[in-house]
Amino acid sequence: EILYILTCVIGYLLGSISGGIITSRLANGPDLHTVGSKSTGASNVQRTMGWKYGIITFLIDGLKGIFACLIAWLITGSHFASLLAGLFCVIGHNWPVFFHFRGGKGVATTGGVMLYCFPVPALICIALTVAVIALFRYISVGSMLLVTVFFILSFFFSGPNTCVVIWAFLLMVMCIARHHANIGRLIHGKENKLGNKVK
Ligand code: G3P
Repeated sequence: EILYILTCVIGYLLGSISGGIITSRLANGPDLHTVGSKSTGASNVQRTMGWKYGIITFLIDGLKGIFACLIAWLITGSHFASLLAGLFCVIGHNWPVFFHFRGGKGVATTGGVMLYCFPVPALICIALTVAVIALFRYISVGSMLLVTVFFILSFFFSGPNTCVVIWAFLLMVMCIARHHANIGRLIHGKENKLGNKVK
């Protein structure tokens, strides 16, 4: 049990390493908490600093999700520990201990966690997300769809296994809850579209 707790702590701390804040500080970019959507995620980095830094942020945030799960598996040999550590990694990304608990929306990190834990359903959801973003140019819509479809699929790909379904449900709820401002903007027709720049 102590090993499970350890892997959750490692997951949370890894998640707290915000790719966006680090990238923006190293590149003398803006304080992400004060520009654009005020999120520390890759979308806001892309919007305020351009594609190069957006992609770097996306990779850091996605990879930390994968690493959190992998480390948990290496320590415990248990797939369940990877699920837990991945969940805590997303929590760390959204509420990072190193940055006053002000983080992102956990999409890239959730994608990494999904990919590690259930690669085939994750790839299906990611492909769908990319298609929806390419079509409608709302990253937030694609992101919320990603976690929702993954949750629905979890009933099938997991068996269904109650733990996995609850895990996918928590990932979905956290992601959608973090998008509350985006949902408000979507309703009022004011949501940022991919490609819109913010100075
Ligand atoms: O990755 C988060 C995305 O879904 C929305 O981010 O910055 O446009 O609110 P943002």
